[in-house]
Amino acid sequence: MTCASEHIYFLDSLNLFVETQWLYNTPVTHLLSEGLLDLFPNEWSTALQRLENEELNDFVVRKTTKPEWSEGLRTFVEKCKCIDRLPIIDIVLPATVPKNFRTGLSSKKQHEIMYLAHLVNAECASRNIKVIVDLGAGLGYVCQLLYHLYGYKVLGLEKNQANVNTARNRQTKFYPDSLGHVKYSCCDLTCDSVETIETILNDEFGENTDVCLIGLHACGDLSICASKIFRDMKAARALIVVPCCYHKLSISKSTKVNASTEKQYFNNFPLSSCLKDVISNSGLDVGSFLRQPFLRLACQEPADRWYNMSTETHDQHSFYVLARAVLQLYATKNGFSLKKCTQKGTRKSQCLDFETYIKDSLHRYTLKKLEEGKLLYKYTNNCITETKNIQSRCVLDAQFNFETHEQNMIDLWESHSDKLKLAEIYTGLQMMLQAPAESLVLQDRLCWMKEQGLRAKIVPVMHRRLSPRAYAIVSQKR
Ligand SMILES: C[S@@+](CC[C@H](N)C(=O)[O-])C[C@H]1O[C@@H](n2cnc3c(N)ncnc32)[C@H](O)[C@@H]1O
Repeated sequence: MTCASEHIYFLDSLNLFVETQWLYNTPVTHLLSEGLLDLFPNEWSTALQRLENEELNDFVVRKTTKPEWSEGLRTFVEKCKCIDRLPIIDIVLPATVPKNFRTGLSSKKQHEIMYLAHLVNAECASRNIKVIVDLGAGLGYVCQLLYHLYGYKVLGLEKNQANVNTARNRQTKFYPDSLGHVKYSCCDLTCDSVETIETILNDEFGENTDVCLIGLHACGDLSICASKIFRDMKAARALIVVPCCYHKLSISKSTKVNASTEKQYFNNFPLSSCLKDVISNSGLDVGSFLRQPFLRLACQEPADRWYNMSTETHDQHSFYVLARAVLQLYATKNGFSLKKCTQKGTRKSQCLDFETYIKDSLHRYTLKKLEEGKLLYKYTNNCITETKNIQSRCVLDAQFNFETHEQNMIDLWESHSDKLKLAEIYTGLQMMLQAPAESLVLQDRLCWMKEQGLRAKIVPVMHRRLSPRAYAIVSQKR
């Protein structure tokens, strides 16, 4: 992209996300309590609710439109296509890891390390790079594979000591022949870690020339640190980083707008001067729409998820989305706060039957009645428990017994259950924004690399359907 075309791309992206924030800027659990379904343009809901299952899948996955649809809906689809600059994934690799790498590794992880190792070798072999530094090495899966398949010396840096210990234990147990070639060190990396890395490299391998920095699913700020370390570290000749968890980027400033919303600004997003300039010239306040919900959208499942999705799976999904939204609406209407008290997900048995769902939910969530910031009573596991909070006045309100709650929620469900298809369409439209959102985040990073005088590109590494964070930023120094 030239500078002028980058400006246009960033401005178009900002306009798309400011216009479509009704689709992603509020948690989907608040679909009803915040009236998000009422924000659908009439022509959109009419046209999309007519679609059969396969047509809806095609609309979301392939962005197929119909000529008779309103201009607004067709323009939305066109804008999604334009802002999505993620390269097409077209990888054919025999992706089976060697036998001794299968123990304890999910097929997803096997796929990820195999494909990344292949890319790393493709970048390093031609440049005669023999040493790899893995930033945020986790349990060292890719470190071990890079040695096993190609004989690289690998330094795995990881901030979590428990992970380092596990990586070393796995190495001793499964790959003892790698002990002199793959080293692990506990290190909390920052953008200023160049000297630390150079010292560890010298200590472990007695050399410090021509290394490749890698990061597999480098979460939050770590992927940005990796790029800055790469820029500043002389010996670093290549960088291959697959970022993830964009929503974990550190916040530089947040200001409360109301009880439930805050404006958020990040240290490392936007990153490039180009995007920062476009934002300041646009007069838009990105703190209100490029917030954590936007970054969460960027690292959601891709739209490909709906490829060939069956009617049953859609029905289950829309039921779960709407039933949870009814629970939230009930809590909001009655002045309860709703807290999950167990990590357990939705059970299969509760799908499609609201009475079962609500019985189960009242075990998994705690409803807390609040009055002027004080806890009055707590409703959990089917009974009202007197709170021990000495500051609060404990009141057991006869009006709020278990059966009443249940019946009220069932009534509420009945008045909203006609919205199942619209709720599913809402999540479909949200999914269509995932690739444009991830694309904007990655284009900003790419632009920053170019501003630093570094050649860089976005390379598809994995199959998105298997591993949603599938793109690497790849850079080499001349
Ligand atoms: C999502 S995990 C990926 C682990 C590994 N690369 C893999 O793909 O299996 C990210 C890892 O980066 C580590 N990490 C995060 N920030 C770090 C930092 N500043 N310095 C070192 N490690 C970090 C975390 O502890 C975690 O193990």
